[in-house]
Amino acid sequence: MRTYLVTGGAGFIGSNYIHYIFGKYGDEIRVINLDDLTYAGNPENLKDIENRDNYRFVKGDVCDTDAVRAIFAEEDIDRVVHFAAESHVDRSIKDPLAFVRANVLGTVNLLNCAKEAWEKEDGTYPENKRFLHVSTDEVYGSLPEEGGYFYETTPYAPHSPYSASKAGSDMLVRAFMDTYGFPANITNCSNNYGPYQFPEKLIPLMINNALQGKKLPVYGDGKNVRDWLYVEDHAKAIDMVQEKGKIFETYNIGGHNEKQNIEIVKTIIEVLREELPDDDPRKAHVTEDLITYVEDRKGHDRRYAIAPDKIRAEIGWEPETMFKEGIRKTIRWYFEHQDWMENVTSGDYQKYYQSMYNV
Ligand code: NAD
Ligand code: DAU
Repeated sequence: MRTYLVTGGAGFIGSNYIHYIFGKYGDEIRVINLDDLTYAGNPENLKDIENRDNYRFVKGDVCDTDAVRAIFAEEDIDRVVHFAAESHVDRSIKDPLAFVRANVLGTVNLLNCAKEAWEKEDGTYPENKRFLHVSTDEVYGSLPEEGGYFYETTPYAPHSPYSASKAGSDMLVRAFMDTYGFPANITNCSNNYGPYQFPEKLIPLMINNALQGKKLPVYGDGKNVRDWLYVEDHAKAIDMVQEKGKIFETYNIGGHNEKQNIEIVKTIIEVLREELPDDDPRKAHVTEDLITYVEDRKGHDRRYAIAPDKIRAEIGWEPETMFKEGIRKTIRWYFEHQDWMENVTSGDYQKYYQSMYNV
């Protein structure tokens, strides 16, 4: 039985990944989920698996050396999949220190503890041990509107405190590979969307606001481009990199699915209108009249676009979910889980929303 330590497994991508690996491997694996349950971590995301015998939840901070060491002492960890991070660019602009702490210190602490537990006396590592660091395409900076792609060889040029802290964490993983021969991979993925995403991010925020008849705040001219990937495709890619990827390598993950933000917002309105029954009173206000252009994000990256050539050629990964299908699945999920949305938007979310959007 293979044992995984997943960090940040109660967040958006982490919880989708845990669902994915239980769906694929069932009782053949054991999963330890280390999550500090920040505002973005939600145990409800894993309700259907919390009673499995081969699942254990540990509430703890990745920066806490004693807590991480204790997990490596108690469990024979074969795979680390490191998601835990502060992940929202707008929050990083307001509070950069929190991002450096969680993302940089958290990663080096996890690396140190894994190295301590796995390294043999001769300085090598057992064959079955693998550490996967989940990173972002934002470390590469911004592309011109006219074209170009992010490759694994693209120089790092982060702009926001978030992307700079992720770049710092990637550099530490590289340093552990180069200095200690530590068995790791880095993945740099584009924008994810799908179930369980916290409504501070573009797609769930727009779905939630539209259903409530609230304004849809589009930053700047709405023409910034992101490369969208359905979250389950990301989960699958991570699993494939761990099982088939070459050790020490970086893989870019993305779906050649570039869209301007304004296109995304208009697609959400269109699909919501198709999905809402005619007698639903919300249908009257879900229209493009809700779109409101607001002040731009500071240092707003213009365009991201991933070249997924390496992961396709070396590992055979391809995205499976087309955007039209993925966005419909996502919208249906939010329709069917309105209690989830109500739970995560009560309390502190209201304060965040008011201070972020000046309402
Ligand atoms: P998220 O904000 O939804 O979840 C983050 C999770 O980490 C939460 O459960 C939170 O409680 C936990 N966490 C935060 N700080 C912690 C700490 N110090 N100790 C333990 N747990 C902590 O984030 P997400 O969107 O699921 O992103 C997960 C990872 O994937 C991040 O590393 C992010 O940089 C990366 N990533 C995200 C995207 C995207 O589009 N969302 C794309 C590429 C890469
Ligand atoms: O590219 C991968 C990254 O994608 C991840 O590393 C990050 O963790 C993740 O949050 C995401 O970052 P973005 O900044 O691209 O995502 P966000 O959903 O915050 O914004 C997407 C685009 O939409 C961006 O150009 C800003 C814009 N936007 C966002 C919000 C929340 C708006 O126009 N209005 C909004 O209210």
